[in-house]
Amino acid sequence: MSDSTLQTALGTFELLPLHWHPRSPLRAWNAADELLLEQVAGNALPPTARVLVVNDQSGALAVALHGWQPHSWNDHVTSQLALAQNLARNQLPPDAVRFIPADTAPDGTYDAVLLQLPKTLSLLEYQLVTLRAHVHPQTQIVAGGMVKHMSSSMIELFGQLIGSTRTSLAQKKARLVFATFDPALAPTLPTPTRYPIPGTPLQLLNHANVFSQQKLDIGTRFLLENFPDLNSANSILDLGCGNGALGIFAGWKFPQSALHFVDDAFLALRSARESFALNGLSNAVHFHASDALEQFSGTVDAVLCNPPFHEGNRMHTEIAARMFRGAARHLSSHGTLTIVANRHLDYRPLLQPNFRQVKLLTGNSKFVILGASGPKAR
Ligand SMILES: C[S@@+](CC[C@H](N)C(=O)[O-])C[C@H]1O[C@@H](n2cnc3c(N)ncnc32)[C@H](O)[C@@H]1O
Repeated sequence: MSDSTLQTALGTFELLPLHWHPRSPLRAWNAADELLLEQVAGNALPPTARVLVVNDQSGALAVALHGWQPHSWNDHVTSQLALAQNLARNQLPPDAVRFIPADTAPDGTYDAVLLQLPKTLSLLEYQLVTLRAHVHPQTQIVAGGMVKHMSSSMIELFGQLIGSTRTSLAQKKARLVFATFDPALAPTLPTPTRYPIPGTPLQLLNHANVFSQQKLDIGTRFLLENFPDLNSANSILDLGCGNGALGIFAGWKFPQSALHFVDDAFLALRSARESFALNGLSNAVHFHASDALEQFSGTVDAVLCNPPFHEGNRMHTEIAARMFRGAARHLSSHGTLTIVANRHLDYRPLLQPNFRQVKLLTGNSKFVILGASGPKAR
């Protein structure tokens, strides 16, 4: 059996993660997915049951459960793209699973909810409180996660927000959490956090799961304090915008520029949209859910980026590399990319294949700001 073949009591499926290549042989599922699927297979779920899968990273749960035409509720465009590819890989129609972005509530009442534990407690809290309006006391609510990433606070949240909870024994380093809906609990949705950008009248609003939910990231702050002169830029794009800190600051400084905000996460884009509205800026503005710039079309004069460098618990720069390639492809010939990065991550080798000039603009003991111009992809 290859690393792309998932064998379950529900069937055998060919699955690959998005951007799979032979030198980074990641699997499209983990042991927690296998336990969740075993649970469904052992429970004789009726064929008419309404099924919701949550945080299904590469579509493994949804593809394996396709017979129930499940809904998939998820914060990432990259998961939506992986799901589409894996449905096609198994000769299943695109509408066998309905994808629901995390900034929208699921649709109707479900008889089974299978949830992969997310990385952040804030997302879990938001999801569990939202789910209450979409389950009934008999709904099978089962969560799965790898033991090393499963904290006691996560398990406690199920008790506080859903109802009585028990956990399974660990198997293959994964565990399940079973929760029974208690209609008497009345938790409220967490309110988005808000904080100012120091030295400006600007405020940022943050929904669950957003990078730097409680305060401005110090790398972001360093870039705001050493901001490029974009006076002549007709359009500015905030790539991996999170709450929109970089683009909103740019819009405030350069009110004539049109702004584009791009992120993979729907709750990040919602935060950027609401942050933009909160500050009464007059710039023309567009929001794009995209994997790097792969779903973006158009040309801009400046790109600002504080690249992500963690995925799950692994350090890696593969997303940053795709972002830089995308920036070169979508910048006008006189356009510039400005990035802030931890000093220990040398991004120059990733920038140089895409830009004629790459300059160190400034730095401190922790961060560097690099400016790249002369995009080569034109
Ligand atoms: C380091 S955070 C920076 C957020 C914001 N620009 C700031 O400075 O506070 C990186 C952002 O990249 C986004 N991201 C991660 N992978 C992405 C991808 N494949 N495509 C687009 N955005 C992505 C994350 O959701 C996150 O908001």
